Amino acid sequence: MNLPKVFITRPLPPSVIERIATRCDVKVHCEDAPLEPARLVEACREIEGLMTSGARVSQELLEHAPRLRVIANVGVGYDNIDVGACTRRGILVTNTPDVLTETTADLAFALLMAVARRLVEGDCFVREGLWHYWQWGYFWGADLYRKTLGVYGLGRIGKAVARRARGFSMRVLYFDIVRPSPALEQELGAQFVDRETLLRDADFLTLHVPLTPETYHLISARELAMLKPSAFVINTARGQVVDEPALVEALRSKQIAGAGLDVFEQEPHIHPALLGLPNVVVTPHVGSATSQTRLAMAMLAAENLLAGLEGRCPPNPVNPEVCT
Ligand code: 8YV
Repeated sequence: MNLPKVFITRPLPPSVIERIATRCDVKVHCEDAPLEPARLVEACREIEGLMTSGARVSQELLEHAPRLRVIANVGVGYDNIDVGACTRRGILVTNTPDVLTETTADLAFALLMAVARRLVEGDCFVREGLWHYWQWGYFWGADLYRKTLGVYGLGRIGKAVARRARGFSMRVLYFDIVRPSPALEQELGAQFVDRETLLRDADFLTLHVPLTPETYHLISARELAMLKPSAFVINTARGQVVDEPALVEALRSKQIAGAGLDVFEQEPHIHPALLGLPNVVVTPHVGSATSQTRLAMAMLAAENLLAGLEGRCPPNPVNPEVCT
């Protein structure tokens, strides 16, 4: 029997690869590093299914993959994939929502707390042997308790962050283009405000929007100027949602108090000035990085892939019109 050929761009957990291998002829790029575009093109020539975590899938790549039918992205964001081009070619695209919601919300909160309470600065200070005696004035940070959290984008992850904020007795404001039901607003204790009020009132602004042409540089110099000088920006969404040079300028000039960032405009390149700023905490795009969640993401992507290849509607289609 001719099994469909599948290529996996990262060394995913063996149990996931074994599951796919029961029904497909699988090849895996065994190095946990991005494939050069030319090697990805080469790997896609004969395949029907592609499972990838963040690899750029352009129209040009699709032109070299005439048999491709399903792309299973291991991640909820799919801005790496030209979905329009896939749909035109009848290629199904899937993603992995839900399974990473809580883990990513945890990281947003961890960054928020780390930057507010200057955890990384304190850690470096101790490790560098600079702590000689207790001082009244050491590392004063900012409280979270009873402060205002501004959630920009009340989707799955935004909601999960809002739920965490309740445990800190925070006031939660949010802005989104879609409003959830009043019952959900009440459950979350979240109040809808317009964009400007969100920016002006937030002590902590946390971003939870997908990257689209509309959200590119959603937070730029104009928006940063509306924030309080005591405000912090937390970004676990996508780097391009924030104008990074404008953020650097706002941090340098103390227009805002600090930032906790997991994502950057041109990963893994980070604006060099960001790394010199003590009021910034950075992590290397690890929002979903726990063993439990990464396994769940890979397994869900495998289910999506298999369903798509077998002509069933997968659990998480991004372009469901292709299934019908
Ligand atoms: C992925 C993410 O690890 O799900 C997402 O959108 O940002 C992460 O969980 C990343 O997309 C892999 O490139």
